[in-house]
Amino acid sequence: MNLILLGAPGAGKGTQAQYLIDTYKIPQISTGDMLREAIKNQTAIGMEAKSFMDRGELVPDVVILEIIRERLLQDDCKNGYILDGFPRTIAQAEGLAEMLEALNATIDKVILFEVSNDVLIERLTGRRVCGNCGASFHTVFNKPGKEGICDRCGSALIQRKDDNLETATNRLSVYENQTAPLIHFYEKAGKLVKLDGDQAITLLQKQLSHILGA
Ligand code: AP5
Ligand code: MG
Repeated sequence: MNLILLGAPGAGKGTQAQYLIDTYKIPQISTGDMLREAIKNQTAIGMEAKSFMDRGELVPDVVILEIIRERLLQDDCKNGYILDGFPRTIAQAEGLAEMLEALNATIDKVILFEVSNDVLIERLTGRRVCGNCGASFHTVFNKPGKEGICDRCGSALIQRKDDNLETATNRLSVYENQTAPLIHFYEKAGKLVKLDGDQAITLLQKQLSHILGA
């Protein structure tokens, strides 16, 4: 099963990806997480990506497509994967289509999480993430069992650098301008499933199971 999770920053892609990994035993491929890892390790890609990410702008398509090209060839992708935060531009979607064609593979479904901007801002500014495994929590909507500690791996929770009000606001407008056109792109391809992302996390999980057949 090859899935794309589509939606604005804060829409719940990472949160629902955690559920899908556990349920379907397929890996999450989050370009955002991979770039943050590259920054942490001070690789050439990390150095190039950092200033774009700090401003809430998109990292250039060529960089992203190269990361994905390598990742899809890894062994754990054989039974499928969850693309989270990729593709984010029409050029990326076209690049992905070419890669899949070469691999004789397709995307099965594109799940779109629709959430209003007011809610997105509340979610982004209150988000806390695990510095180790990347799991996502919220100070009000999705509290960890123990404050400041990841439920999954027990590491400390931190706030992402781009989760301040100014950068989050810019990320939402970048989404509108550069990523939202993908909705029509995948609708035309007959792959798009729209979900109201402003529902309880567990309710969305149930809907995903229903759509994907658990
Ligand atoms: P990335 O890391 O992908 O961030 P994003 O798209 O901005 O998305 P987020 O991770 O912020 O949101 P999410 O949908 O995963 O929400 P979450 O589940 O955590 O990208 C970061 C940057 O990297 C980009 O700005 C760009 O610079 C670069 N980049 C990455 N990919 C790129 C690409 N392909 N091309 C170019 N550049 C790229 O949830 C958010 C919060 O809400 C959490 O606190 C959560 O607990 C809470 N929450 C989730 N669901 C619910 C719910 N149903 N109800 C209540 N609260 C909820
Ligand atoms: Mg995310």
